Amino acid sequence: MPKLCVNIDHIATLRQARRGREPDPVLAAGICERAGCDGIVVHLREDRRHIQERDIYLLKDALKTKLNLEMSIAQGIVDIATDLKPDCATLVPEKREEITTEGGLDVIKGKERIEKAVERLQEKEIKVSLFIDPELEQIKASKEIGADFIELHTGRYANAQGKEQERELKDLVIAKDKAIELGLKVNAGHGLNYQNVSSVAAISGIQELNIGHSIISQAVFVGLEKAVREMRELCI
Ligand code: PXP
Repeated sequence: MPKLCVNIDHIATLRQARRGREPDPVLAAGICERAGCDGIVVHLREDRRHIQERDIYLLKDALKTKLNLEMSIAQGIVDIATDLKPDCATLVPEKREEITTEGGLDVIKGKERIEKAVERLQEKEIKVSLFIDPELEQIKASKEIGADFIELHTGRYANAQGKEQERELKDLVIAKDKAIELGLKVNAGHGLNYQNVSSVAAISGIQELNIGHSIISQAVFVGLEKAVREMRELCI
């Protein structure tokens, strides 16, 4: 059974719609923990469209579980991460114009720059995860630059249907096996929801699922605590 880590970016999206104080992602994190989640994930974007620096420092102090900071490899963001020292940093590609993180990191193309960021973070004893598509060459490159974890991008699986979805699921299993064989730990996430999560949760060897949008959307109707509990039950 994988651990469930909740991405609370979209609590902050709602707050930023009015640039006010509510809803507070720090309060949301406490509710997610009460519902039994295993960790909290936030993405400090360069454009600060949702999560703010205030949030990550308060979360770091307040969390009883653990903090996974999604981040780009931009110098200023790495500076903040090395000061914050989250339990884990997940490196993601970031484009200003995108609505959400669109694809995985190209570790082959960005090898030198990514490796430098990995080193700086690991010097501060932060575990580093690389968010990549389920592709063998990306997994090998992730191992070569010394990542601790990879997070397999489940977006292609989530967007597919029928036979195509079965193929995407197989690709996730193959990628997970290869990563474990190389000594990497494996997480997964993006686009997972109450309808499609069970097949991914059933893949043995995946340590954590990182899920955001779907849980926060469900929370609008049933409340955050229930939304997290419902997702946890599907991960068993
Ligand atoms: N994992 C990573 C690396 C992400 O960038 C995101 C989106 O912020 C997620 C997981 C969660 O995706 P979703 O909001 O679609 O559940």
